[in-house]
Amino acid sequence: MIADIQDDKGRALCESLGYSIASYVHCDVTDECHVRDAVDAAVSRHGKLDIMFNNAGITGSLCMQIRKSEKADFERVMDINLVGSYLGTKHAARVMIPARRGSIVMTGSVASAAPGMGSAAYTCSKLAVVGLTRSAAVELGQFGVRVNCVSPYGVATPLATTTLGIGVEESMHKHAILKGVRLKVEDVAEAVLFLGSEEAKYVSGVNLLIDGGFATTNPSHGWFRYSDG
Ligand SMILES: NC(=O)c1ccc[n+]([C@@H]2O[C@H](COP(=O)([O-])OP(=O)(O)OC[C@H]3O[C@@H](n4cnc5c(N)ncnc54)[C@H](O)[C@@H]3O)[C@@H](O)[C@H]2O)c1
Repeated sequence: MIADIQDDKGRALCESLGYSIASYVHCDVTDECHVRDAVDAAVSRHGKLDIMFNNAGITGSLCMQIRKSEKADFERVMDINLVGSYLGTKHAARVMIPARRGSIVMTGSVASAAPGMGSAAYTCSKLAVVGLTRSAAVELGQFGVRVNCVSPYGVATPLATTTLGIGVEESMHKHAILKGVRLKVEDVAEAVLFLGSEEAKYVSGVNLLIDGGFATTNPSHGWFRYSDG
């Protein structure tokens, strides 16, 4: 079940996957009625909700100076990134608790572990998503429901290319710690699939960084010192 506000793209994706297995529902994640109805539609169509993926997100303004930032932008970013994830978790929990099973996965960001990678609004929203993950994991564990988060490094999606430009992949690779490989959307999807699956049946409360070790260091230390060249 694909839930988004880009109806044409959502329906086109279902068509390519096949309507027998995929369906689309219009859902603005900031609207509780939409989220509630999307969850109910999944249960009525499939009889249950196994995995909830709270992935919707925006960067908001790229203004990196808090003194010049707009309150409305801060609120919009928090609304979609955090409140959307909260509503998704709330309504997933509503149907997963009686089933005594389920897996909720959110999308954070490398900004959750390396502040400075995004605006104050984006960084706060993603750190809060990690907080939501931990809080919900503790609360919902007693019902057999796991809650985790994936936090990717920069990856060339519409979100990144429209805000950072088409050279985003090259630029991210230049600053990456791990060389010889580039982060692709499929790598993020694999991590989400793992967290949603039985292979991760004892994994809960984790913020899984998919950042090739980027947040492990402080880039200002100048890691080039360790290179052979
Ligand atoms: N691309 C990156 O470099 C990167 C890095 C770290 C984290 N992320 C996170 O990954 C997630 C997915 O982003 P992406 O990079 O695939 O970008 P994207 O723009 O391709 O996808 C974001 C999706 O969220 C949807 N969306 C936006 N507002 C919505 C709303 N109010 N209700 C419902 N859906 C809404 C958009 O329509 C879009 O389909 C986001 O949470 C983003 O913050 C992205």
